[in-house]
Amino acid sequence: MRKINIFDTTLRDGEQSAGVNLNLQEKLEIARQLERLRVDIIEAGFPAASKGDFQAVKQIAETVKTCSVTGLSRLVQSDIDTAWEALKGGAEPRLHLFIATSPIHMIHKLRMTPEQVIETAVESVKYAKRYFPIVQWSAEDACRSELPFLAKIITEVIKAGATVINIPDTVGYITPKEYGNIFTFLRNNVPNIEKVSLSAHCHDDLGMAVVNSLAAIEHGATQVEGTINGIGERAGNAALEEIAVALYIRKDYYQAETRLNLQEIKRTSNLVSKLTGMVIPPNKAVVGKNAFAHESGIHQDGVLKEKTTYEIISPELVGVQSNSMVLGKHSGRHALRNRVEELGYTLSDEEINQLFVRFKELADKKKDITDDDLVALIFEEKFDH
Ligand code: KIV
Ligand code: ZN
Repeated sequence: MRKINIFDTTLRDGEQSAGVNLNLQEKLEIARQLERLRVDIIEAGFPAASKGDFQAVKQIAETVKTCSVTGLSRLVQSDIDTAWEALKGGAEPRLHLFIATSPIHMIHKLRMTPEQVIETAVESVKYAKRYFPIVQWSAEDACRSELPFLAKIITEVIKAGATVINIPDTVGYITPKEYGNIFTFLRNNVPNIEKVSLSAHCHDDLGMAVVNSLAAIEHGATQVEGTINGIGERAGNAALEEIAVALYIRKDYYQAETRLNLQEIKRTSNLVSKLTGMVIPPNKAVVGKNAFAHESGIHQDGVLKEKTTYEIISPELVGVQSNSMVLGKHSGRHALRNRVEELGYTLSDEEINQLFVRFKELADKKKDITDDDLVALIFEEKFDH
């Protein structure tokens, strides 16, 4: 099994979600929970961005003991100095440097030539190495960059001392096959690439962030970056809980593992949702309210006989207490009897049959039948005759 490092950027890229602003206490609470979840790396913020970010990164670095803490930095000496001041008290300080490498970004945003970008990247990595043993270098908008240029700049930053190379799909543009091919190309064309860790960082603009991250793992990435619940800039980042659970459930296929304590997933997801105010869609994989809810009679009957008929993830694995049988118009007799017994009532087969008729009549008028509805029906059935 290959070990995949989980790099959590909920507190940096995740906080870049429109409308989200976490205070120091909230960031600390999330960082402590990420430590319980056992992510490998916490990107705690962008120390040079504001005094608040600096304080948050510093306090998180000093608080968290069993994860490496990092902060984002532009290729500017003052940013790197500030990041060191914030991170130096941490258990395993590391720096995250980034600069754009695509023609679109170099021409229109940076207004720099490719040669200037290489020179600046190399100088900043060398400068950062004075302080940081671990330096991650990211090629922003890597997926719209020219591959020979990408290989060239990565060759130079590795020579300068970068230890992690990140290939962000900054605008969520790439497809899984193309993303995998970029990793293969770099592994075949960059000297000494096997000496560094290769990282995937995907955005979800086309809804492919998770599957792209998994494709990168298949093609040699040893680190994946993302956020809890997939929050982040625009359509968000890759949802880490989905990646980790996919690796676990399909370890036969991926042959890779993380060190996450999967049972902390639900708690982490709820905390991030509560503190950021970003609601989890009910149908969201792994952590959505409906992820372990069964509504149709055929499914309910199958699950009541043997859970694995329709459940590939057991709810307990990710810290959800149990699955649920939602009683609605698609539900069957088996689920109805089950719920009646859970509520403490014993009905004969004949009574269940009559209750089932009334239950269906009500379910046609009402989306979900609550326990109160059911008790009312039972009382009508048993005592109103
Ligand atoms: O999406 C991106 O390119 C980033 C970089 C700063 C790594 O978040
Ligand atoms: Zn990003």
